Amino acid sequence: MSTQQTFRSVPPTDDAIDSACRFLAAGELIGVPTETVYGLAANALDAAAVRKIFAAKGRPDNNPLIVHVADLDAMQQVVRWPLDPITMRQFDAIVDLWPGPLTIVLPRSDRLPAEVTAGQSTVAVRIPSHPVMQQLLRRSGLPLAAPSANRSKYVSPTTAAHVVDGLGDRVAMVLDGGACSVGLESTIVALGERPRLLRPGAITAETLASRWNVPVEALLPVDQQPVVLEAPGMMLQHYSPQTPLWFAERTASTLQGRIGRIAFAPLPDNEREKFAVVRVLSPTGDLEEVGQRLFAVMRELDSMALDAIVTDTCPPHGVGRAIMDRLKRAAFRE
Ligand code: TXA
Ligand code: MG
Repeated sequence: MSTQQTFRSVPPTDDAIDSACRFLAAGELIGVPTETVYGLAANALDAAAVRKIFAAKGRPDNNPLIVHVADLDAMQQVVRWPLDPITMRQFDAIVDLWPGPLTIVLPRSDRLPAEVTAGQSTVAVRIPSHPVMQQLLRRSGLPLAAPSANRSKYVSPTTAAHVVDGLGDRVAMVLDGGACSVGLESTIVALGERPRLLRPGAITAETLASRWNVPVEALLPVDQQPVVLEAPGMMLQHYSPQTPLWFAERTASTLQGRIGRIAFAPLPDNEREKFAVVRVLSPTGDLEEVGQRLFAVMRELDSMALDAIVTDTCPPHGVGRAIMDRLKRAAFRE
């Protein structure tokens, strides 16, 4: 089949999932819904298919992929199992958070091609909860390598239409599983000598710290930077719209031109009037709702030829830690 054509997304009927399984078995890429963001999936055991992911995204080949599996049995096919006793205890304390928006970095199995893990001795694994992704994993019987289905450095996709916009000419099909319920990429933790938070997400640092009975700070890097370069994909500029993004608390009235405003809660009229367009992410300022809608609204405002986007910020605790992590990267300019 031609890879130059742009494919539209399809509803996740039984037939559509069967075709997706056939495409995956044949080494093609598929756009898949998960509860966090949409993924660009390939058979994780097929090195050539995995290389297509890097090519499609324009992703540096030193940035490893997350491997998605249906359940713990399937996980044992991609992880070096059993874990050592220390890692096993850390794992046991959080494994009930699966299926869900949590990725765990563990020693890798030799069955995985080196491309998936970018040559590292560890693999990032996740059991996603989205019912369509669960069906696809079970019916295909394959572990699926899937990064977020955006071009490298752009905002992650939270709808099937976002995937078609960015990568429609690179995928055999996109399964439309609706808007993602979490809307932020999964929390990533690495286990071993001590557990570490590599990327904050909807499973909060506070939840994880309480499971391991350590203070939250113990999970963070020594210098307390929220940015961890240990996950090679966590370079500072990431998730960025083309339009310059500014934090409301720092801009006051200095910006000129047509400005878009991302508000976490409704704004008073005299504030609204200052902006060409305002998007309110939650009627009550609920941060889970903010996280769910943030990327879609960034993309929408980015398509409106605005001179700048100004966004609210929030305290970096709970899911607010993940929201501020993404916003800082999106606002970062060299
Ligand atoms: O929510 C998500 O995690 C989505 C959906 C599709 O599951 N996927 C996702 O993948 O966000 P991606 O490739 O955009 O981000 C994966 C991150 C990267 O920062 C990468 O460096 C890190 O995971 N990573 C992957 N394998 C790793 C490893 N072995 N050690 C440390 N970091 C790893
Ligand atoms: Mg990504």
